[in-house]
Amino acid sequence: MEIKTFGIIGAGQMGNGIAQIAAMSGIDIIMNDIKQEFVERGINTITKNLSRRVDKGKMSAEDKDAVLGRIKTSVDLKDMANAGFVVEAAIENEAIKFEIFKSLDTICRPDVILATNTSSIPIGRIAAQTNRPEKVVGMHFMNPVPVMKLVEVIRGLETSDETFQTTWDLSIKLGKTPAEANDYPGFIANRILLPMLNEAVYCLYHGVGSREDIDTVMKLGMNHPMGPLALADLIGLDTCLAIMETLYDGFKDSKYRPCPLLRKYVEAGRLGRKTGRGFYEY
Ligand code: CAA
Repeated sequence: MEIKTFGIIGAGQMGNGIAQIAAMSGIDIIMNDIKQEFVERGINTITKNLSRRVDKGKMSAEDKDAVLGRIKTSVDLKDMANAGFVVEAAIENEAIKFEIFKSLDTICRPDVILATNTSSIPIGRIAAQTNRPEKVVGMHFMNPVPVMKLVEVIRGLETSDETFQTTWDLSIKLGKTPAEANDYPGFIANRILLPMLNEAVYCLYHGVGSREDIDTVMKLGMNHPMGPLALADLIGLDTCLAIMETLYDGFKDSKYRPCPLLRKYVEAGRLGRKTGRGFYEY
């Protein structure tokens, strides 16, 4: 199935990254968010990323203009009536995602697949908000989207083979390598990654090491491209906490308990890079 117009809900760090790579692969985009300033911020980030590519000689100025020309912005969800495939990349909040899916179900054509970039909310629970659960699928991109090669494609209980295959093929068209996961808390990526990040926060909380030493150990000792505390700041500490809560609630196993220090930072508004302060200052 050829997808001519790709709808993206959310112009934040995930949404604008998805818009950038999709527009670079020749697809027309409608990028939606709730406020004009949010979509403008998203476009500014994309423009900055593309300009960097031009400066490095990886893209011509004409191609940059063509990519930007393929991205339309919107602050009205009804504009998704024109989309042939929609991915939701809004904030990691169940109630908000449920509202978006209920609305999309009434706005989008019945044949349109509704994908979610959720990092941990069960696909089946999101699908149940719609009258098309067979057309709901997880399409989980990694941050930073333009750089990371993976897309985790997640099958909900009702996801049809056709929906799964279309999403898998689209991931490849976007230049990514898909991997298949089933719908259990955290899927594969975050089931493995987040307990490691949470344990790094416990190391800080218990005074095992400073933030710099914890990150140095994992960078130089394990060849991770960045330390776990810096990575948590990149992901967003609110998102990290939400994922740990999902793992803890989903398995009722104490090994997934979120570190109290992580919660304390989130409550204080230290959410990582996006607020200028997390485990580090930016
Ligand atoms: N947007 C676009 N491009 C970016 C970028 C961003 N935010 N950050 C870096 N880049 C690009 C740079 O422009 C550079 O491009 P070129 O090679 O074309 O020059 C390239 O990436 C490398 O960047 P840097 O040299 O500045 O820095 P680096 O080599 O240290 O790499 C990094 C930065 C790619 C972020 C690397 O540190 C890394 O891979 N970190 C781990 C990231 C990770 O684990 N992500 C997964 C998070 S989990 C997740 O997303 C799932 C979830 O649900 C929580």
